[in-house]
Amino acid sequence: MRGPFAAFNGHEQVLYGADDESGLRCIIAIHSTALGPALGGTRMLPYESEEDALEDVLRLSEAMTYKAAVAGIDTGGGKAVIIGDPETDKTEALLRAYGRMIGSLGGRYTTACDVGTYPDDIATILRETPHAVGAPPEEHGSGDSGVSTALGTYEGLRACAEERWGDPRLGGKHVAVQGVGKVGHRLVHHLAEEGARVSVADVDEDRAARCAEETRAEVVAPDKIHAVDCDIFSPNALGEVVTDRTIGELSCEIVAGAANNQLSRADLADELRAAGILYAPDYVINAGGLIQVADELRPGGYQEPRARRRVARIGDRLREVFALSRQEDVSTEEAAHRVAGRRIHAISRLTTLRLPGRD
Ligand code: NAI
Repeated sequence: MRGPFAAFNGHEQVLYGADDESGLRCIIAIHSTALGPALGGTRMLPYESEEDALEDVLRLSEAMTYKAAVAGIDTGGGKAVIIGDPETDKTEALLRAYGRMIGSLGGRYTTACDVGTYPDDIATILRETPHAVGAPPEEHGSGDSGVSTALGTYEGLRACAEERWGDPRLGGKHVAVQGVGKVGHRLVHHLAEEGARVSVADVDEDRAARCAEETRAEVVAPDKIHAVDCDIFSPNALGEVVTDRTIGELSCEIVAGAANNQLSRADLADELRAAGILYAPDYVINAGGLIQVADELRPGGYQEPRARRRVARIGDRLREVFALSRQEDVSTEEAAHRVAGRRIHAISRLTTLRLPGRD
């Protein structure tokens, strides 16, 4: 599609919401509901412009469609952004106005946490709409999704090791972890328990030092971590880590981590492949959080053992992607898109054997 709406290409619905009283300015993007009503987190950031916010939400909501499709979840792709500083602009009134905005979509979009939003914020949103997941356990939610994302990423790293070295064990391997926040620090603990050698970096120096002390990891400067000579580079901070500049500085055999949108351009996946570096598509390896919060939507509500079992299968999902990449001679990123597209195509075209009351 060309013209003024080109950026919306492929999206089902995009809602711009504002409430002057509370200062709310948000964008909710629903990319696809082919597999079910959309589910995806709310990111709150002081974006420099509404264009930046729009670009971010459109990219993130599209990725949610593929993430759910590959993970085998029956949710569609959606995401939302609130334009504002989470430290200073987030108030009860703003979150409740935002809850009403979500409610206006009648369940076509369910929200969860993302950068700048926390389980307690979800509890506030739930006072206005039932369409939010990831509240604290005391509020009947499944809590911090970073636990499941870290576990899934760890399982993913083992699948990568198996693909690259024929053995999933990470003991003795050197892993460079960028970002030790909710996901990264838990991942470092999993790695340390298995006997991996770990280097960590975080722009928050205290956080990096704390994590290193707990796990006997070595601390590296944030601007050097991607270039550490290691077996696996694991991005767990923000996106756009593999760029035209950094790709030549990588000194690893695998790039695999939880950060969303790791490649600044999709075709950098081809360049990684040409350089002999195995890349785990971010939305495949980081699906643990989505699997956890999507479980809250199942009849009877959240069941941790069921969610954990599904998270542990992220390794199998990656093996499927790697096999297709070999068979069809394409990058792992393209292979993941093909796995997602084929499932969406197959399931959304099921039109027979309907029962009354099910549309
Ligand atoms: P977080 O905000 O708790 O942690 C991110 C950490 O990265 C912070 O400690 C921050 O100081 C650090 N950081 C920021 N820029 C950095 C840089 N340039 N170099 C080194 N460190 C830097 O976020 P969380 O929840 O741990 O998420 C990490 C990544 O994983 C994000 O990209 C997020 O979108 C993604 N993700 C998280 C999920 C979850 O369940 N929490 C689910 C799926 C993806």
